[in-house]
Amino acid sequence: MKISVIGTGYVGLVTGTCLAETGNDVLCIDINKDKVKQMQEGVVPIYEPHLDVLFERNIKAGRLTFSTSLEEGVSHGDIIFLALPTPEDEDGSADLSYVLGAAKDIGKLIKDYKVIVDKSTVPVGTADKVTQVIANETQVAFDVVSNPEFLREGFAVDDFLKPERIVIGSSSEKATELMERLYKPFVRSGNPIIVMDEKSAELTKYAANSFLATKITFMNEIANFCEKVGADVDMVRRGMGTDSRIGKRFLFPGIGYGGSCFPKDVKALHKSGKDNNYTFDILNAVIQVNDTQKTILLPRIESYFDGDLKGKTFAVWGLAFKPETDDIREAPAIYIMEQLLEKGANITVFDPEAMPNIKKRFGNTLTYANNMYEATKGVDALVICTEWSIFRTPDFDKLKANMSQPVIFDGRNLYDLKEVEHQGFYYSSIGRKT
Ligand code: UGA
Repeated sequence: MKISVIGTGYVGLVTGTCLAETGNDVLCIDINKDKVKQMQEGVVPIYEPHLDVLFERNIKAGRLTFSTSLEEGVSHGDIIFLALPTPEDEDGSADLSYVLGAAKDIGKLIKDYKVIVDKSTVPVGTADKVTQVIANETQVAFDVVSNPEFLREGFAVDDFLKPERIVIGSSSEKATELMERLYKPFVRSGNPIIVMDEKSAELTKYAANSFLATKITFMNEIANFCEKVGADVDMVRRGMGTDSRIGKRFLFPGIGYGGSCFPKDVKALHKSGKDNNYTFDILNAVIQVNDTQKTILLPRIESYFDGDLKGKTFAVWGLAFKPETDDIREAPAIYIMEQLLEKGANITVFDPEAMPNIKKRFGNTLTYANNMYEATKGVDALVICTEWSIFRTPDFDKLKANMSQPVIFDGRNLYDLKEVEHQGFYYSSIGRKT
């Protein structure tokens, strides 16, 4: 099939590349000329495991091409994916200007039947708005379909190629058939393609992300309470998670959820509720608890150093909002480091992928280490913000020799309590005894 993808951010690029992988002829459009040139030369503009291999293979095969021309994009695809940003507006709602702007242009350029797919995360009712905007510009027949993505950064290629489900919101039989044909190769294992109306599909995405954010936040509160009563959240988590109604995943407490999806989507659903005369009390609590959780290590660090962080030096391991990505959007590390700097501390950082992005934001207010051990030389404490695999089994003797004090504040519960204590560290983690 002929496919166009408008917007080559993380979602658009993964969608375009994976659709080319099953033999479709995919044209990706972006207004950023430099980025398009880079992609035409075979350079993947983001870090996402396995994407580079698929990218190269499909470009070589001539199935994956790039252009800055929306006109070309509209004429090329039988199905046109809108994978444009929906950033958070000042009031917490999703800013639809990119999506509706593209819809208007498509309306002006469309010459024959097309299926326009909302791939971006958009509030309930957006498919109707997109339809209206296009219809205002043209008499040509078209359908608008909502097809939310459930890709996790770091696992996006795998999630796209082997999805647990595909959600299609469509009220047109013709469009539904085309979408089912497109996605059939990805659900050979029997996972469902769930067809529903557009509004339900739009809400499914927000409900799924908000539910997961709530699940994590609930566990963070249980962890905080464990500390008050002397319980161990690791044990509670295992005890709870083995109940199949609860499930083992997304029960890991830490220093809050981050990224470009959960924080934005929880706020957008909350705002969407308000706009429709409904108050999501639970989401309000999730937002507030998560904000506090992001800096929960700080009072502990301060109390350990008797309230005086001036001139103290810290190593921070893990800057990305989670492992296997270079994305630092809403990363807890940012909030912790901003406050440490404000209190006069010096920080040396290390992250396997996110250093360039952190450098852009923090410049020379931080020291950048070449590896995880170099970051710990002479520091008063190590602060762990992201659970990259490489941090899980460090050489504790080397750490102790490097650090001026053997002190670890761990926001991701990486180590066995007994082991670190045996190694002679002061160790503070989340929801476990110190
Ligand atoms: C999330 C969803 O998991 C995807 O299904 C969805 O498609 C995507 O948002 C999106 O809307 O595009 P992502 O933001 O990549 O994916 O990251 P997750 O792996 O879900 O993690 C989100 C945050 O929750 C991270 O900060 C992570 O550290 C935190 N987390 C996750 C926990 O604190 N505890 C857990 O047990 C799991």
